[in-house]
Amino acid sequence: MKLPRSSYNWISLTGAVVALFSLFMIVFLFVVSTVLGQGGSYLGLFMYIVLPAFLLLGLVFIPIGMLLKLRRDKRRGSGEEAGRMPAIDLGNARHRNAALIFFSGSILFLLLTAVGSYEAFHYTESVEFCGTVCHQVMEPEFVAYQNSPHARVACVDCHVGTGASWYVRSKMSGLYQVYAVATGNYPRPIPTPIANLRPARETCEECHWPEKFYARKHRIERHYLPDEQNTEWDIVLQMKTGPEHSAMGLSEGIHWHINPNVKIEYMATPDRGKIPWVRYTNLRSGEVTDYLYDGVALTAAGKDTLEQRTMDCVDCHNRPSHSYSSPMNFVNRALTAGKLPRDLPDLKMIAMQVLMVPFPTRDSAYRYIEQEVNAYYNAFYDDRMAEFRPRIDRSVRVLQEEFSKNIFPYMKVNWETYPNHIGHLETEGCFRCHNDRHVAANGRKISMDCNLCHHITAQGPVGEMQVANVFESLEFIHPNDPEGGWKDYICSDCHKDVYK
Ligand code: HEC
Ligand code: HEC
Ligand code: HEC
Ligand code: HEC
Ligand code: HEC
Ligand code: HEC
Repeated sequence: MKLPRSSYNWISLTGAVVALFSLFMIVFLFVVSTVLGQGGSYLGLFMYIVLPAFLLLGLVFIPIGMLLKLRRDKRRGSGEEAGRMPAIDLGNARHRNAALIFFSGSILFLLLTAVGSYEAFHYTESVEFCGTVCHQVMEPEFVAYQNSPHARVACVDCHVGTGASWYVRSKMSGLYQVYAVATGNYPRPIPTPIANLRPARETCEECHWPEKFYARKHRIERHYLPDEQNTEWDIVLQMKTGPEHSAMGLSEGIHWHINPNVKIEYMATPDRGKIPWVRYTNLRSGEVTDYLYDGVALTAAGKDTLEQRTMDCVDCHNRPSHSYSSPMNFVNRALTAGKLPRDLPDLKMIAMQVLMVPFPTRDSAYRYIEQEVNAYYNAFYDDRMAEFRPRIDRSVRVLQEEFSKNIFPYMKVNWETYPNHIGHLETEGCFRCHNDRHVAANGRKISMDCNLCHHITAQGPVGEMQVANVFESLEFIHPNDPEGGWKDYICSDCHKDVYK
């Protein structure tokens, strides 16, 4: 079979070999992954992104080689095509072959491109692509995601949403991210909040219909105090997520903020931690109320350093899928689940001591947890070590496991890096606004009333719990605080370092 002379050159030849080899590899990997039902993020990366790029590069090299050769021949003034552009003559066997190869090749290539780009689209939208390709970088988010209520919701459903323009936007910023990862030039931790996250109205509300009102929810919090018996202290709350009766819609309760007639705007520091200005607009009556922190008006210069936002789901649910628990929370949960032995004396206390230390790597944390827990029981319970041994070993294993799900030294991520704005115990959360210090001109405050958002219906150590009557709420009792000293501060003032 004969081809035009211009195609006999090293560049075109190399291009053809690279293209053929890539094509072969793509088909081979495709067959392997479908027949064996195995794949993985890296296989996809090669099949849909790296190899097609080489295939395309190879194909581009073929005409480039031919053009260069034509030019060279022209300069030398020799060769059949010298001095003119190639004319296609189907009577010529060489030209016929070349044209045949070119057209059938193009059709095949277009077909493969259509299938390939469809697959590539799906692949780059897949959880495995987002979560595991750059695995060290995305590890914290991916691990937390797998333990979240949204473990089966694709990353792109929240981060990209539907529509071509957001798809393109996300891929453009994705290109920069690939570059940042390849050069090791990415921030650790990844900064939060995300500046260009798509508005929650267009993502969360695709699945959560705000007009479908959530009723009040019963919540049981189990705490274990840092004493010898790991005393269990329960708090039962009725969360006023919705109104007293569902017929009242979003007219009251926590989700009142997303009532279509309500618009709440605020200005905050870039981490959204401090909120000196809040505006509530009643969209039905047009009435506007401005709340100022301690009644102090903002200066023009002060305003420039602040970010303005309209409140949506993510201002409260900022960790719907990547929630990093504090040691207090994950140890309480493991004790409740029975993974940690409640009957091992002092366990809560020693767990808090070893987990609050900052660690440079996961291995050093694992070693430290093992050493310190063992050292503690050797020092204080040496006479009962034989009896305790299995429980100590289990505790060490569980603490290490829980550590790995919530704290990520490589990316410098823990519960403090990404504070959760729901609640008010360990971070200010709702109390960023609801602290009785945001005052309107008419004297109205954004309330911190303990019964505004929930009723405490029972509390105390098991067996001696204080219980409220129906429709009534108890005054909060703080564990180990007979004087009620907690009332002089807000919870997070103490709780951000209670166990440090
Ligand atoms: C239920 C919705 C949802 C899903 C699903 C989701 N995310 Fe997120 N993600 C968010 C929100 C909300 C934020 C925080 C936004 C903020 O505070 O600015 C966030 C933040 C992030 C951040 C920034 C760092 C941080 O933790 O604040 C990264 C990185 C991230 N997500 C990656 C992923 C990956 C990878 C997946 C899939 C494995 C995923 N996300 C799935 C909603 C989601
Ligand atoms: C693709 C659909 C989808 C999207 C998008 C989505 N969610 Fe969800 N979400 C769910 C499902 C399904 C559940 C229920 C999971 C369950 O009960 O097991 C859920 C549960 C929740 C819960 C209750 C969690 C709990 O602990 O009970 C909250 C809060 C929530 N979503 C908030 C959000 C927010 C905020 C966003 C936007 C950032 C969002 N969701 C986006 C599907 C979605
Ligand atoms: C950006 C500021 C801001 C944040 C953050 C905020 N709120 Fe509010 N909230 C307001 C304003 C403003 C009002 C209306 C105050 C008034 O009564 O004039 C309000 C009112 C409420 C009400 C009363 C609604 C009614 O009329 O029945 C509840 C309940 C509530 N918030 C719960 C919460 C909870 C829970 C959180 C945290 C998850 C929270 N808020 C976070 C600004 C905020
Ligand atoms: C003012 C803060 C705030 C805003 C804004 C907000 N939520 Fe909530 N939401 C809460 C709180 C607090 C709870 C109760 C949480 C709990 O018990 O842990 C809750 C509960 C939920 C639940 C679980 C309900 C249940 O009974 O299980 C879902 C789902 C949810 N929110 C979705 C959303 C969506 C979607 C949006 C935006 C359209 C939104 N929320 C806006 C504070 C808020
Ligand atoms: C603006 C709304 C709001 C106000 C005001 C408020 N809380 Fe809460 N509180 C919450 C939310 C939301 C949660 C649930 C947090 C979560 O989902 O983890 C919570 C949780 C709690 C818990 C359970 C904590 C745990 O982890 O076991 C206690 C106890 C509590 N609040 C006490 C109080 C007391 C005491 C006051 C008055 C000083 C108060 N709250 C005022 C919104 C509020
Ligand atoms: C003056 C500091 C201070 C304030 C304010 C404070 N706490 Fe505490 N809290 C502590 C200390 C210290 C502990 C450890 C308990 C112990 O030593 O027994 C604790 C423990 C707790 C526990 C049990 C913790 C666990 O490990 O499971 C809960 C629940 C709790 N506090 C809730 C609250 C709530 C809710 C508020 C706000 C209304 C609050 N605290 C305000 C100091 C404080």
